[in-house]
Amino acid sequence: MPSDKTTATAIRLDGVDLSLGNGAARVHILKGISLAISQGEAVGLVGPSGSGKSSLLMVLAGLERADAGRVEVAGQQLTGLDEDSLARFRGRHVGIVFQAFHLIPTMTAVENVAVPLELAGRADAFARAAAELTAVGLGHRLDHYPSQLSGGEQQRVAVARALAPEPRILVADEPTGNLDEATGKQIMDLLFEAQARRGATLVIVTHDATLAARCDRTVRLRSGAVETADALAGAGEESRV
Ligand SMILES: Nc1ncnc2c1ncn2[C@@H]1O[C@H](COP(=O)(O)OP(=O)(O)OP(=O)(O)O)[C@@H](O)[C@H]1O
Ligand SMILES: [Mg+2]
Repeated sequence: MPSDKTTATAIRLDGVDLSLGNGAARVHILKGISLAISQGEAVGLVGPSGSGKSSLLMVLAGLERADAGRVEVAGQQLTGLDEDSLARFRGRHVGIVFQAFHLIPTMTAVENVAVPLELAGRADAFARAAAELTAVGLGHRLDHYPSQLSGGEQQRVAVARALAPEPRILVADEPTGNLDEATGKQIMDLLFEAQARRGATLVIVTHDATLAARCDRTVRLRSGAVETADALAGAGEESRV
């Protein structure tokens, strides 16, 4: 099969190292990670507990800074960006969904989605937030607070918040981990639909084999290093790993 040389690389990591914690608690978490993910690809990040999946997701979302190596996401070199530039980068290019929803409890559903848009300078923040919430089936819950919503509804708010800025990169850390199977599937349908319809790149950390199987390929971590990256897209510089 001819490889598609025109496919853009959305995420490229080269020799990435990450240590976190101070003093005796300092842990060398990621060890020489090199990885390339194409624009529009869905990748499942799998591996044992403690292997560094969440840490890797934080690095490629611009939430943690690598100690060594190069990180390029959505055409932007993250290495060397200061905190403000990283925050701007995330606001523009990365949508993030966590297992525990991470909604702001004192804000309604529509405020949770609209406020980040307002901070990014969008004049139509509330209209856009209402439209995104309606698209995930929550048009009738705009003014509810997180505590007044079910877990699945809260995660749908989080998905709407992640999608609202139309990011090119979507990352999700065990997004169905706190949900029952049917509700979890609804959330994943929303994420895969966004990936397909908007051409976004989707990286999902999961322990769920069914969910990993829905991705174009999986990348398996073990002890902070890439163990296997099956079905690599395109001709792989990844083979250097
Ligand atoms: N802030 C931190 N300070 C020190 N060590 C940390 C920190 N965050 C994570 N670690 C350690 O790094 C390792 C990888 O953690 P990480 O959360 O990335 O694993 P994971 O693969 O997501 O695991 P799980 O499947 O349990 O969520 C673990 O050994 C963890 O204890
Ligand atoms: Mg984790």
